[in-house]
Amino acid sequence: MTRQDPVGPVPRLALPSGETVPILGQGTWMMGEGTRTRREEVAALRLGLDLGMTLIDTAEMYAGGGAEDVVAEAVAGRRDEVFLVSKVLPQNASRQGTIAACERSLRRLRTDRIDLYLLHWRGRVPLAETLEAFDQLVRAGKIRYWGVSNFDTDDMEELVQLAGGAQVATNQVLYNLTRRGIEFDLLPWCRERRIPIMAYSPIEQGRMLGNPALRRVAERHGATAAQVALAWLLRQRDVMVIPKAARPEHVRENRAALDLQLTAEDLAELNRAFPAPTRKVPLEVL
Ligand SMILES: NC(=O)c1ccc[n+]([C@@H]2O[C@H](COP(=O)([O-])OP(=O)(O)OC[C@H]3O[C@@H](n4cnc5c(N)ncnc54)[C@H](OP(=O)(O)O)[C@@H]3O)[C@@H](O)[C@H]2O)c1
Repeated sequence: MTRQDPVGPVPRLALPSGETVPILGQGTWMMGEGTRTRREEVAALRLGLDLGMTLIDTAEMYAGGGAEDVVAEAVAGRRDEVFLVSKVLPQNASRQGTIAACERSLRRLRTDRIDLYLLHWRGRVPLAETLEAFDQLVRAGKIRYWGVSNFDTDDMEELVQLAGGAQVATNQVLYNLTRRGIEFDLLPWCRERRIPIMAYSPIEQGRMLGNPALRRVAERHGATAAQVALAWLLRQRDVMVIPKAARPEHVRENRAALDLQLTAEDLAELNRAFPAPTRKVPLEVL
């Protein structure tokens, strides 16, 4: 940390259990792939923790377990500060397969529990089977909460009808200025039921950063386009946002996005450039 780094706490939101988590966390897709050195990735995650972004999202899929390995190193010695999210692949999500996958993740993460364990996307295994496994894992103390990812409104409807399905703690979905489809139905549906959304690829993996409207708004604030994209999501205060950043300057910028207050004029300009949906848009995925 440097003296310029923000020190105020990251705002939090309540999960259905009442437990709170920071609204700004850190993603890890593409970590552990060898694109940057492992030391840099670990350092970036640890800097993020120092800055209060203590929710870390990973998955057994990322780098074939390599990202969980990076996370293990980043949280070593400070596990209790961290709210750890990981995911089971749909092809592993049978009753026994989920439990085995979770145990493998726990070994890679070098911890005794995952705070929130998600079904990465819907596959062929009946949801009821995955839910039974999640329940067993909760009872065994190996996971604290479970949730889903890439579930559209009809999948959510089906899920909450199942035994225990209403316990779902989050739905992690693609949501950013260029992917606003969920605002039409999925986001209001989840809000009504107090199931918080976790927004992945919040800066569209960098592809939106050249947008002229985004750049104009950023310039008005002396901020970057990435910060405006994050501030636009974070202003809602009931959505968790998990940008991935392996560079320390990106980590710092992302944390500082919490302090960027978008004006009504900014929001109107962003709305014109990235219109809200006026009809149902099937959930997009990356
Ligand atoms: N459930 C799912 O199916 C699913 C799908 C996709 C993603 N996710 C989760 O969501 C996380 C975030 O999504 P994502 O990784 O796809 O995309 P993202 O967070 O939108 O973008 C990550 C990319 O943006 C760069 N970046 C980060 N902060 C920046 C900044 N301030 N200025 C400029 N560039 C910046 C990063 O560079 P550097 O790394 O070089 O700093 C990286 O290349 C993932 O890591 C993963 O944990 C989940």
